Amino acid sequence: MKIIAPLSTTLMFLLMLSASLLAQPGRPPRGEPGAGGEALFPSQTVPKSEREKKILAVLNDMDQAQRRGSMSVPVNDGRLLRIFAESTGAKHVVELGTSIGYSGLWFCLGMEQTGGKLTTFEIDEGRAAMARANFKRAEVEHRVKLILGDAHEMVSAVEGPVDIVFLDADKQGYLDYLEKLLPKVRPGGLVLAHNMSQRQADPRYVKAITTNPELETLFVSAGDSGISITMKKR
Ligand SMILES: C[S@@+](CC[C@H](N)C(=O)[O-])C[C@H]1O[C@@H](n2cnc3c(N)ncnc32)[C@H](O)[C@@H]1O
Repeated sequence: MKIIAPLSTTLMFLLMLSASLLAQPGRPPRGEPGAGGEALFPSQTVPKSEREKKILAVLNDMDQAQRRGSMSVPVNDGRLLRIFAESTGAKHVVELGTSIGYSGLWFCLGMEQTGGKLTTFEIDEGRAAMARANFKRAEVEHRVKLILGDAHEMVSAVEGPVDIVFLDADKQGYLDYLEKLLPKVRPGGLVLAHNMSQRQADPRYVKAITTNPELETLFVSAGDSGISITMKKR
């Protein structure tokens, strides 16, 4: 597999821009202000093609009409996931916790140009059915393998190399997912985890990604939930 630059210039710029020092004690994670508490600029995705326009329309509809009860990532976190997928040239993204397919569809948007595939796990049948319908109406179903069931029992069957792992299922399960999937992540690949504020994160997972010399981890906030970005060093 062709390995693209690990963290492109765009990505590094984005990380510098969005790093909000979630790990700083006493500082609540917030979406808009930067590390110095200063307001950042608002932005939105401006479609370049009809395909992008179509997928964005589905994402917008999901955000407006289906978000309730879905636990989907905030819009800006979704945009960040798309940037990760596209800028790293991802060919294989593995997601834990599909829900209705919102974050998965952002990954798919990023992989429109890379030709990548998404493997995504969901334990809830109803949400998985909604996700399948959403992937279909965005016409990305050929790009997605949705696996219904308990991901803890099934992730070991994932075939590497994996460019990006996105953890967004049961928070206490992140460490188990990391242990099972890290060997399949390519050198220079990423493990992203959602809901990584000090209030929500599992300390065992935080320890695992911040003390291993094989890994480089940064905590950022694009939306309001906090994401850990862990790179598997080359
Ligand atoms: C926070 S939601 C995922 C949101 C989704 N990533 C998005 O942003 O659109 C978490 C999902 O993980 C699923 N889940 C929880 N434990 C799971 C497990 N052991 N295996 C597979 N899915 C699981 C839940 O059913 C739920 O739909």
